Amino acid sequence: MITSDRLARLGSGVFDRNDRRKSAYASSERQNHQPLIDLSLGSTDLSPPVAAVEAMAEVLQHPSSASYCLHAGTQPFRNAAAAWCQQRFGIQVDAETEVLLLVGSQEGTAHLPLAILDPGDSALILDPSYPSHRGGLELADAHIHTLPLTAERDWAPDFDVLSSDQWQQLRLMVLGFPHNPTACTGEQAWLDEAMDLSVQHDLVLAHDNPYVDLALEGDAPSLLRCPQWRERGIEFFSLSKGWCLGGFRLAFAVGAAPLIHALRQLKGVVDFNQCQALQKGAIVALDQHADWPSRLLPVYRQRRDRMRQALTALGWDVPEPSMALYLWMPVPGWAADRGWSDEQLAAELLEHCGVALTPGSGFGDSGSGWLRLALVRPVEDLENAVTRLHPWWDRHH
Ligand SMILES: Cc1ncc(COP(=O)(O)O)c(C=O)c1O
Repeated sequence: MITSDRLARLGSGVFDRNDRRKSAYASSERQNHQPLIDLSLGSTDLSPPVAAVEAMAEVLQHPSSASYCLHAGTQPFRNAAAAWCQQRFGIQVDAETEVLLLVGSQEGTAHLPLAILDPGDSALILDPSYPSHRGGLELADAHIHTLPLTAERDWAPDFDVLSSDQWQQLRLMVLGFPHNPTACTGEQAWLDEAMDLSVQHDLVLAHDNPYVDLALEGDAPSLLRCPQWRERGIEFFSLSKGWCLGGFRLAFAVGAAPLIHALRQLKGVVDFNQCQALQKGAIVALDQHADWPSRLLPVYRQRRDRMRQALTALGWDVPEPSMALYLWMPVPGWAADRGWSDEQLAAELLEHCGVALTPGSGFGDSGSGWLRLALVRPVEDLENAVTRLHPWWDRHH
């Protein structure tokens, strides 16, 4: 089959191998086979607002939901998104020119580079980072620079590692705090500094913010709090995490009018918008259940705390994450001493304990030596996963 170099560069590597191992495990018919406990995806078991799903179901019957939805048809959704911005950040956003409906923030971050970069243009992403950040740049044939995040700096970006010349070459920087996979909420000061650098060096600042309401400590940063976002910023919000609507693929971008226009023009080639029924559900979620994410926080806090206790009892020291949904776990010393990579450790845990985690190297080189555990099952299942680890751990430790 003839495929592009671009596709080869995209790769799928670690994630693909992990997925294949998971399906092999799930379909295995060995004796004493334990059902898979899958903690490898940030896809929550918690429920979306009932009223949002009911609204979708109702509008689904309407013929308008079966029609293609052009940009004008997304106006009620864009109004709701703008109203949410007003309520959440106290800023007035123009629903016509500064808001765009997306099929998930993954789609938006993946398409943005195609809309604003030419082949060979330079862009900066965090390492580790969500795969669509790198993937979008690969699709656009961009030259990719990475900003490594380290445990020593508590995952704070060090913008000084780039020289002034390197900054000058960049046309786009993609950040995302609260940060997947390190589970670090981040600080507004980091975004403010990034925005200053973007202004100084004339580049676009994109901020992927699907976890904005899911900080467990403090308040999450937002690009919309940086005064210059209207000049060169674009921020991606999602209903996947805070409203538990991941499968419905609902998100939006808020940003400088020229960037929104560019992304809209690009998307015009690729897709139509989500149907009216899905948009209606999203409107109900944003309008009537803006507090939904905050109601999830006690659940995630309890899961985080109970899971850390259970892992500590096992002998696995896991740093306390400041955002919901994930634990970011170092490969334990004894496993590293055996030469196990994060990917090998994940394979072992799956094979011998039936517990699926995500190898950190799938998010970039700086994720090597770490595993991500998603807190997307009830506490009992999470603790059960650790119980399964005990005999295996004791054998190897
Ligand atoms: C940083 C980040 N961006 C984007 C996404 C995807 O979000 P959406 O469902 O809105 O595409 C995720 C999902 O895990 C994520 O962690």
